[in-house]
Amino acid sequence: MTYRIAPSLLSADFARLGEEVRQVIAAGADWIHFDVMDNHYVPNLTFGPMICSALRSHARTAAGTPVPIDVHLMVQPVDALATAFAQAGADLISFHPDASTHVHRSVQAIRAAGCKAGVVFNPAEPLDVLDWIIDDIDLILIMSVNPGFGGQGFIDSALRKVEAARARIRASGKDIRLEVDGGIKVDNIRRVADAGADTFVAGSAIFGQPDYAAVIQRMRTALA
Ligand code: DX5
Ligand code: ZN
Repeated sequence: MTYRIAPSLLSADFARLGEEVRQVIAAGADWIHFDVMDNHYVPNLTFGPMICSALRSHARTAAGTPVPIDVHLMVQPVDALATAFAQAGADLISFHPDASTHVHRSVQAIRAAGCKAGVVFNPAEPLDVLDWIIDDIDLILIMSVNPGFGGQGFIDSALRKVEAARARIRASGKDIRLEVDGGIKVDNIRRVADAGADTFVAGSAIFGQPDYAAVIQRMRTALA
């Protein structure tokens, strides 16, 4: 299993975003998680495609290899913004099925724009829609907090949902990443991996500490 750690810029210093992206990549980030909130689907407002585009050139390793930008759309409607983020340099784009009137169309729009497509499940939301779209997606994102804010506590029922999602991925035979978002820390990341997750979003756990590399290293040690 190749584990990936995706620091969430939601907890970064918004006055120095480019520098924060470079620093967290130097500290070992595999993906950059980019939380888009619209003050409609969620009660908070963050950043849009112009900021994503401005950060694209910063999301590289020191050797120049691009680091994927993992856009998590907490917006309604979905399709127009998804397309705008594809043009802004996003690599993966995930959306909440309950925010889209035509889920399959949204998946197709993301893929047609050249990005990998993901679907996101809130803590009280069932996985049923996967019955109809699992063959068309690249990523499943399980929320372990209610979307909208960083720094919330991990909701334990997410572990059962991760197990259920892993079983569905296995049954599908597809290469689909299983990401978990919310309340992930050094001391619970192992439990989340044991439930079947392979990709871990962490905002406050990383950007809330002075030494990003030390936190990421401790997470990798917990996963090893
Ligand atoms: C919440 C966001 C998360 C958030 C996680 O709506 O989707 O990505 O940044 O923050 P932490 O890791 O602090 O729970
Ligand atoms: Zn997120």
